[in-house]
Amino acid sequence: MAAPNPSKPDDAFSLHSIGQDSAVQLNDPPSQHSEHSTHTTHGAAAPSHNDAPGPSSGPHQGAMQAHNDEPEGPDGYVSDSGFDSGSLLGDETDTLASSIMHYRMENGRQYHAYRDGAYWGPNDELAKEILDFAHHMYLLTLDHKLHLAPIRNPQTILDVGTGTGIWAIDMADQYPSATVIGTDLSPIQPEWVPPNCHFEIDDVTLEWTFPEDHFDFVHIRELFGCIPDWDFFFQQAYEHMKPGGWIEIVEHSVQPIADDDTMGPDHFFHLWGETVVQMGQIFGKSFTIWSEAKERMERAGFVDIVEVEYKWPMNGWPEDKRLKNIGRWNQLRLHEGIEGFMLRLLTQVGGWSVARAQVFLAEMRKTLKDYKIHAYLPGTVVYGRKPIPS
Ligand SMILES: C[S@@+](CC[C@H](N)C(=O)[O-])C[C@H]1O[C@@H](n2cnc3c(N)ncnc32)[C@H](O)[C@@H]1O
Repeated sequence: MAAPNPSKPDDAFSLHSIGQDSAVQLNDPPSQHSEHSTHTTHGAAAPSHNDAPGPSSGPHQGAMQAHNDEPEGPDGYVSDSGFDSGSLLGDETDTLASSIMHYRMENGRQYHAYRDGAYWGPNDELAKEILDFAHHMYLLTLDHKLHLAPIRNPQTILDVGTGTGIWAIDMADQYPSATVIGTDLSPIQPEWVPPNCHFEIDDVTLEWTFPEDHFDFVHIRELFGCIPDWDFFFQQAYEHMKPGGWIEIVEHSVQPIADDDTMGPDHFFHLWGETVVQMGQIFGKSFTIWSEAKERMERAGFVDIVEVEYKWPMNGWPEDKRLKNIGRWNQLRLHEGIEGFMLRLLTQVGGWSVARAQVFLAEMRKTLKDYKIHAYLPGTVVYGRKPIPS
């Protein structure tokens, strides 16, 4: 990956223009259960293998794929591309492909269009940079490993809510004989990716239309605040994983805590954390999956579950070199990223004015520079296996 620049000066941070460009209602998408029965095409996107106009122009360029119920190819990979037919008429795929690009502008930030309002974060350049910062931090956290689950020779890998696709791309490089699929609401993945890496526009909260017993490895990272029903989500994953296949979920808390007495009960970090959690509750998609994943995976039927805890310091306060480094990155990620994390939630979900939200964000940025507070975000990596029937 292209490592972000840790020496980026603080004064390079800029606030985005403030102004209510639109007022999206952050309603949940239509009930997943009402859509499950229809088995409609989940999303849409530009086809990946064609010579027609669209986000891609070659077979191996990571173009977004629509995901549907059509017969699959040898590697289980399907396409509903209308371009393959040679028809000059527009088709559903074509229409949806352009509609997913009609991003929503809101208070100076750009948001996804497909399933408008379903996700709290922007998908603009800054947001993508923040996601890649986090990827770098996860590599530092996991000793430069892309996963902890003991997978062996995986052939089918799914990255759910792939974001910029950076993890999926790295995995495709690491496992060249595997097919790696990354799904997301936003087509923000690069075009030039390893030939065994594909991206699809898909809403993971709907019933999955992948084949059953299909994936050797399912990976989830930072889908906090994205999933209305985690039990249903894990049930879907279970059904579509091969017996013996592994699932891994990597999440962290949004509530800073400290192990010593440097963060008193009235400290701003408490207000921050409680506010994020509260916004998730109103939104109907919680931010607490990091502490619930193990239990929910057990409930779904996974076995051999392992939970590994980690800490992301709020800045470079720790003496331990490794944690200090992670903390420096976290400070940068939060300082630059909190507008994207919280602006839509505070204004559209919480009903705050943009001015009030910006004051809250400014207080957070100031607090992030206080090295006397030994606060960190706890997180977990939880992995488990779908049992093999005896
Ligand atoms: C915080 S980002 C994490 C991205 C990536 N997993 C990573 O760790 O770099 C959450 C991602 O989930 C995607 N997302 C949110 N809700 C989704 C949904 N219902 N279906 C598919 N993707 C979704 C967002 O578009 C965003 O890219």
